[in-house]
Formats: sequence, C-alpha cells, structure tokens
Amino acid sequence: MSQSAQVVADYYGRRALGDVILGALKETGKDIEHLTPDDLAPVDEFHSGGRNATVRLAQLAEIDGSQRVLDVGCGIGGPSRYLASKFGCQVNGLDLTAEFVALAGMLAQRTRLADKVTYRQGNALDLPFPDASFDVVWSQNAAMNIADRDRLYGEMRRVLRPGGRLALQDVAAGPGGEPYYPTPWASDKSISFLFPPQSTRAALERTGFRVVAWQDTTQEALEQQTARAKALDSGSLPPLGLHILIGEAFPTVTKNMLRSLQEQRVQLFNAVVERV
Ligand SMILES: C[S@@+](CC[C@H](N)C(=O)[O-])C[C@H]1O[C@@H](n2cnc3c(N)ncnc32)[C@H](O)[C@@H]1O
Repeated sequence: MSQSAQVVADYYGRRALGDVILGALKETGKDIEHLTPDDLAPVDEFHSGGRNATVRLAQLAEIDGSQRVLDVGCGIGGPSRYLASKFGCQVNGLDLTAEFVALAGMLAQRTRLADKVTYRQGNALDLPFPDASFDVVWSQNAAMNIADRDRLYGEMRRVLRPGGRLALQDVAAGPGGEPYYPTPWASDKSISFLFPPQSTRAALERTGFRVVAWQDTTQEALEQQTARAKALDSGSLPPLGLHILIGEAFPTVTKNMLRSLQEQRVQLFNAVVERV
C-alpha cells in the first residue's frame, strides 16, 4: 500500500470495533445471532443522512435485483447489505481499511447475506476487477480522501459495462473556505481533498460519463447535522451510533461538521452518471 493510502487506512482503522458494535447491539436488546441490516443501520451507514440517504441514492440510480454492483469505499458494509437485502442484487465491496473489510464480512455472516455480498481490501485507484464487470458502481462519502479524481473516475468507468451507471454521494468544497478539522473523514487537511461540485461534474464528463441526475443535498445534511449536534449537547447519544466508528473525536467532529455546513465550507450532492 502507498504511504498516503496507509495514512487514510490508519485514520479509519480501530481495533476491536467488532466487539464494541456487538456489545452495543446487545445493550439495545438485539439478538446478535439473528441480526438484520436494519438493526445495524445506526452504525454501518457511515455517511451524511445514514440509511435514508442510501435509500434515496438507490431510487435515483434505479437499482434492481438483476444488477452486479461494486461499492467503492464500502466501509463496514451497511449500504451494500441494504442493497443486497432490499433488491437481491449481488454486491462486491472494496475498501482500503482492512479492519473495515473484516468487520463487513463478519456482519454479512451475522445478517445471513454472505451469499450476496463479498468484501475485499484494495485501493479505489487500482480496482482489482476486470473491465466491464459491473452494471453499477456505487460510492458514498469515500472520494473525500482521494486527490486523483481523474484516476478514480477512470477506474470506476473501466469496471463498468457500457451503459452502466455510477451512483455517487459525495462531500464537495463550498465557497466558504476549508472545512474545520477534524472532519468525519480526516483529522487534518493532509488526507482531505474536496473539490467544488462543478469541477467534479466536469471531471466525470471528461472521463466519459453522461450526467443522468444531480441533486444538491446540502440543506438536508445541515438539518441532520443540527439534530445530531443537539442530541450530543443533551447527552442523549444512543449506544449504537457513528460515535463508535469516529471514536473520541466524535463531539468535536460533530460540531465542526455543523459549522462547516453553516458557513458553506462543505456541500453535499448525489449524482447518477452513465458510462458513454
Ligand atoms: C466515511 S467512510 C464511508 C464508508 C461507506 N461508503 C459508507 O457510506 O458507509 C469512507 C471510506 O472510504 C474508504 N476509502 C478512502 N480512501 C479509499 C481508497 N483510496 N480506496 C478504497 N477505499 C477508500 C475508507 O477506508 C472508509 O472506509
């Protein structure tokens, strides 16, 4: 792994995450031998908007059960398990962080989805899959750690069949300046690479994609982050939540993300683009 990729993997990787998550599930009264994707949604949808955002992107991308899907930067696998269980499609997940990949596999076993979802460790800039092997490439909140967007989108296009679709949820640079660090994706700017939405759109078009749908979701993200910051202030954090993945920086990260959204330092968007 390159040195810069290792810094990103070290940022996300936390030991014994599986035990902490299973412990929190037990605390909320779940039977950890019979888990459903819904049981895990508070902790395994590691992006703005949580499960609702995944449902929304799946509708926008017109996901159906016949598709072979690749989730790039799949994290611990919440979106991939949702797509597999809701639509019945086969999903491959790829992530840089080995701990996340191992945990995604364990959670697939415990939700009895191991025949539908497969995870492997790897870099989005060098996808370990043949040309034209997927109908859909999916990625939520992963590109913020990736500077070389032309290469990222080029790899995503390569593994898509002609006419296949790329479904993206991403954080973009806003006009207000740098985000406040730490953010949910980076402790400092050395591993954070945000670009304005219009330059991302131009990069996708330059790479050989046609834009099918583009949605600005900044306002929803702001509302959700406001609610999250309020819950934090009132001390009412549930046992199972993203604080488990983010760790002790969670209170600072939550407040920073709210300020960054309020001051238009970050924007969020969903996009569906088609390989031409
Ligand atoms: C904020 S998490 C989002 C995880 C998942 N997409 C979700 O929404 O639940 C970002 C993920 O991107 C992964 N990532 C960052 N850079 C990557 C790269 N170059 N290749 C593969 N995965 C990467 C990280 O390891 C992390 O799991």
